[in-house]
Amino acid sequence: MKISVIGCGYLGAVHAASMAELGHEVIGIDVDQAKVASLSSGVAPFHEPGFDDLLVKNSQRLSFTTDMSHAVNASVHFIAVGTPQSSDGSADMTYVNQAIDALIPHLSPGDLVVGKSTVPVGTAQRLSAQVAPSGATLMWNPEFLREGFAVEDTLSPDRLVYGLPEGDTADSAQEILDEVYATILATGTPRLIMNFATAELVKVAANSFLATKISFINAMAEISEVTGANVTQLADAIGHDNRIGRRFLNAGIGFGGGCLPKDIRGFVARADELGVGSSLDFLKNIDEINLRRRGRVLDVATDELGELAGKRIAVWGLAFKPDSDDIRDSPALDIVESLARAGAQVVAADPQASIPAAKRIDAAGLSGQVSVSDDYLGAAAGVDAIVVATEWKAFQEVDPKAMASVVANKLVIDGRNCLDADAWKAAGFTYRGMGRS
Ligand code: UGA
Repeated sequence: MKISVIGCGYLGAVHAASMAELGHEVIGIDVDQAKVASLSSGVAPFHEPGFDDLLVKNSQRLSFTTDMSHAVNASVHFIAVGTPQSSDGSADMTYVNQAIDALIPHLSPGDLVVGKSTVPVGTAQRLSAQVAPSGATLMWNPEFLREGFAVEDTLSPDRLVYGLPEGDTADSAQEILDEVYATILATGTPRLIMNFATAELVKVAANSFLATKISFINAMAEISEVTGANVTQLADAIGHDNRIGRRFLNAGIGFGGGCLPKDIRGFVARADELGVGSSLDFLKNIDEINLRRRGRVLDVATDELGELAGKRIAVWGLAFKPDSDDIRDSPALDIVESLARAGAQVVAADPQASIPAAKRIDAAGLSGQVSVSDDYLGAAAGVDAIVVATEWKAFQEVDPKAMASVVANKLVIDGRNCLDADAWKAAGFTYRGMGRS
């Protein structure tokens, strides 16, 4: 099939390459000339395991352009542009609206427009009416990919959600999307059919639930900190109950990234507009707990070191999660900035995110106090503390005995509870975790 994917960020670019992997002929369209140039030359503009290979492997069936008129050759059009957070917390719909406006002149009767962006409930109904005069049909098909696993999640999703329009175009829309996803459906992937509003809500409800799980365990970490309990053992014990489950119960410095934080705020803003704000009051609390955890590292560092001014602190990790170079709303980067603002000299390192992080540090006017590189071992030389802020596997594999001889003071603050606490203690370090010691 001939497919266009509008918006080539994490979601769109991976979706485009994955659709080509399924055998379709795909054109990715984005307004960002540099991104298009990079993707066209087979180089991923962001770090995502397996994505470069997919680009190169499918280059015969996959191209990228800034010219929306190329959409005319396709009959299925995925909308995968971003919906960032507006200053009032709601989702900024500028890019979705621009994409639809630019696409409509190139649509033909019988075309299918498939929304993938995370949007406020009610959006699909509005866009459907906008698209209808062209003779095309709109449906909603939210995406659940995780950064770091984007290719795997797109090609082998847990489920496919189809939000269908009311009326007689629904059946043909469903058939077309079934054809697009034929290979995935053939493996037995569940396909759930529902109306627009439900499909839109599934996405924000899933992210809200995940955020709630993380803040729940972080609230337990706060209780553990004053009672001497160990939150990791607590999570293991409650996680054995299948109704609860162990995944997404890792306490630490909380969630960040381009999705969870902005999606819960956007959902709260939309519920307020709909007059049911009180239904989501709890999400405000989830957000507060999450942001509070970012301050915990500073508190522990002050507790151990006293005045932070003049102290040298290594921070391992800048990306919002491992296997990613994404620093959007990264708890790690917030911690670097707050340590620097408290007067510490910060030596920050990340295997993938050092370049975007250095730009942000520069823009914040903190480059005099923060050095950024990918050399995490070198960053530990002569420091008063090592802070682990992103749980890269490489950090977990560091030999604490080797670190003991290079640091000035043996203190490790494990913001992600990912280190072997006993091994670090055995090497002479004071180990401070989040909700565990
Ligand atoms: C999230 C969802 O997991 C995806 O299902 C969804 O498709 C995506 O948002 C989206 O809306 O596009 P992602 O932002 O890639 O995916 O990141 P997650 O793996 O959810 O992690 C989010 C944050 O939570 C990270 O900062 C991570 O370190 C933190 N986290 C995760 C914890 O603090 N504890 C945990 O137990 C798990």
